[in-house]
Amino acid sequence: MQSRLLQTCRVSLYNTLRECRQRTLELVTDINSETLCQQAHPDFSPVGWHLGHIAYTEAYWILEHCAGLPPQFPQYHQLFAANGLPKSQRQHLPPIEEILDYLAIIRKQVLTYLETAPLQQQERLWRWLIQHESQHSETITFVLQLHSLNKKSSYTRLNLFSSSLSLPHHKSFPMLEISAGEFEMGNGNIDAQDNERPVHRIYLNTYSIDVYPVTCLQYREFIAAGGYQKQEFWTKEGWEWLQQNPVSHPLFWIESPEWDNHPVCGVNWYEAEAYAKFVGKRLPTEAEWEKAGSWNQQLGKKSLYPWGETEPNSKLCNHNTLVGHTTPVTAYPAGKSAYGCWDMLGNVWEWTSSCFTGYEGFEFYPYQGYSQVYFDHKHKVLKGGSWATRPWGLRSSFRNWYHPWVRQILAGFRCAK
Ligand SMILES: [Fe+2]
Repeated sequence: MQSRLLQTCRVSLYNTLRECRQRTLELVTDINSETLCQQAHPDFSPVGWHLGHIAYTEAYWILEHCAGLPPQFPQYHQLFAANGLPKSQRQHLPPIEEILDYLAIIRKQVLTYLETAPLQQQERLWRWLIQHESQHSETITFVLQLHSLNKKSSYTRLNLFSSSLSLPHHKSFPMLEISAGEFEMGNGNIDAQDNERPVHRIYLNTYSIDVYPVTCLQYREFIAAGGYQKQEFWTKEGWEWLQQNPVSHPLFWIESPEWDNHPVCGVNWYEAEAYAKFVGKRLPTEAEWEKAGSWNQQLGKKSLYPWGETEPNSKLCNHNTLVGHTTPVTAYPAGKSAYGCWDMLGNVWEWTSSCFTGYEGFEFYPYQGYSQVYFDHKHKVLKGGSWATRPWGLRSSFRNWYHPWVRQILAGFRCAK
């Protein structure tokens, strides 16, 4: 890398690291020790653990692995390493002041090292680290939501999105037909995760996909029609899950017409599947989703985002906790894809029918446990990011994965045919 390019890269990393950290810390400015240390749900670690883990990961990869320094804060290793303690044992945490000090002390050393780090060899790792923090930051956001939900009485989605932006309430939205042909799937850029690589061409038959994610109004019809009581809509596993977890609406459900045009949020894969069957559709495969969200048929090329190459901003999609909750699916006309799909990025993650696997030629990075250990055919792919996704993890090629029974994440879906 030439020296001027190298300097631009250094400055860009410095600014992004700072911006990302600022967004993380904003989430916990007024946190009390109960919310910091307690698990809101057995599947998710406490907020304080995520904070400590961000510092631990930065110290391990940059200070130890790259800079060759001795292990920092060894007393925290077992507590904050991803493979240290089971989630249920991550509740005995230092006070918030101590965790914030840990973050700040590690960060100071990391920024000092950045001044001379050989970025020709390391840029990918630094970019990965920013996305790592972004992802934990999103987890902190929905764990905080779960805490509010557990307290019930205080759970409200505040600052309702201006009703002037809510278009007439639609019960059925159109679908788009995407004609048969090849497209380019995946991402080979420096900041692409291991599981997004390599870029490869895929042929898809003609299919139709919803223009918008499924809205609360549409989903209410499923509830009203006895969707949660009728086995005919559910897969065998989905029905078994429902019998063991008798629920009658999505996790983040608010019964109010104000939310009619917002995407349904807080459903698991089984619920998404059942709804799709109810309306005579199915979930899209991840390839169908990605083609609809990134391929330009006319130009015969893909774009990083549905709208093109401009980095995400507040005019293009609901992300980065800028709004703090979902928005109507019709709120971002400038963000639609070349094919004409709206709301592909931000607002809610979207379940796809696909199992999470490695593309042909997959190579793990930076360690096997990051994605590869989840190629077990038990995790489903989600696409598109949510209102809490940081811009550094928001792109059409990005893949998220969860077990089909998880509904605590900020996930909805759209259907295909
Ligand atoms: Fe992590």
